[in-house]
Amino acid sequence: MSIYSTSSKSFNRLENILIIGNGGRENALAWAIQKNELVKKVYLIPGNAGSERIHKCERIRIDVDNKNELVEKLDSLKINLTIIGPEIPLANGLADFLRQKGFKVFGPGKDGAKLEYSKSWAKEFMQDANIPTANFWKVKSFEEAKKIIHSSTYPLVVKADGLASGKGVFIPDSKDECLKAAELILNGKFGNSGKVVVLEEKIQGPEVSVFALCDGEKYILLPTAQDHKRLNEKDKGPNTGGMGAYSPAPLLTEDYLNRIIKEIIEPTIDGLNKKNIDYKGVIYFGLMITESGPKVIEYNCRFGDPECQTIMPLMDQNFVFLLEKCSMGNLTGDEKINTFDKVSGCVIATSKGYPQEYKTGFPIKIGKIDSSDCQIFDSGTSFSKEGELLTDGGRVLSIVCQDKDFDMVFEKAYKNLKEINFDGIYYRNDIGHQVRKNFSKKF
Ligand code: AMP
Ligand code: GLY
Repeated sequence: MSIYSTSSKSFNRLENILIIGNGGRENALAWAIQKNELVKKVYLIPGNAGSERIHKCERIRIDVDNKNELVEKLDSLKINLTIIGPEIPLANGLADFLRQKGFKVFGPGKDGAKLEYSKSWAKEFMQDANIPTANFWKVKSFEEAKKIIHSSTYPLVVKADGLASGKGVFIPDSKDECLKAAELILNGKFGNSGKVVVLEEKIQGPEVSVFALCDGEKYILLPTAQDHKRLNEKDKGPNTGGMGAYSPAPLLTEDYLNRIIKEIIEPTIDGLNKKNIDYKGVIYFGLMITESGPKVIEYNCRFGDPECQTIMPLMDQNFVFLLEKCSMGNLTGDEKINTFDKVSGCVIATSKGYPQEYKTGFPIKIGKIDSSDCQIFDSGTSFSKEGELLTDGGRVLSIVCQDKDFDMVFEKAYKNLKEINFDGIYYRNDIGHQVRKNFSKKF
């Protein structure tokens, strides 16, 4: 059955969509959703300075933590579907709250978001469901951590259990560094998020991101993607939220993806069902392809950023139907996604100093952009009093292009990047190096 065959009655109720979040990810979702002609308006709370450049989009400036005001807004705007982008409101139970008030929501409840907001819970969940992942130990004191670190026969990775804005993972080079990281976390560097530490066997291999849209029982996969987490070229430097991505990931052949479905994706969804978790949202599987097979590095309860900016332009106008079906629990699981036979790539322009300290408020100048199959999704921007576009984050802009092959994609993306300027602009020139045939010649 195709997504076109769902009764048109439900589709008429997709006039007003609300997206919660303020990043490149939310702008990319809005861009893909507005393509559908049934959608009249896409509201973003709070969005950013790039949101209203997107057709049909409008920003709403209210505080999502003010629940009464939020409900009044959803009522007065006649919102038909709410999509919650970031992990923090999901972990705080915003999806549960809105569902209780009778709204349709794409995004898991607090129980499902635990896949992301407690790494130890996720590891135990995987252990119970026999899902391949690195060996681990959960510790609550430095004494316990010391014992494990001293007796470990292989290198370890040290992680704060809870949410830490992508900063809670340490990849030490020695036992000493391992001890220091564990001590730092347990001493309160990340507040309550570091009350528990997960020590994990360090595993090796390329990383891929797989996204499953779930309706509680059934799921469909989005095109796969590869992120570039390290700040600098040749995958060097500190970890970041992501410096660029491409989709699909050719590393995952159809057979290998089927293996991932059998060993990881289906057991995850079955495992959630066994725990009576009605997961209506996206599960982001952060995987490492090791010599002994695919392993889960992490789960997230949200779309990846910049993977989302990369994948959304591959979606056709039916994408919003998929989100709606997930929110209502009526996916068939056989829905087909038409990706127009194109591939997509994204390069992130960041502020100098990111992921550590950086300054904001620099004017952004955008010259002549080749806009055929190219998008600029603002990640961290704001307006000056005079209406000038300014930098307002570590990751500032996502430059995304699509074409028949990755060489053409990145040629366009880097050509466009030359037209963009702000004080301290920094980006990697080697995004997609794995898939660019001309790469060595150009680099
Ligand atoms: P996480 O926030 O758990 O995804 O970790 C951030 C990054 O740290 C991952 O994308 C990996 O590059 C790396 N990482 C996390 N866990 C491990 C592990 N067990 N072995 C090797 N690298 C890891
Ligand atoms: N791109 C990695 C993340 O969104 O966590």
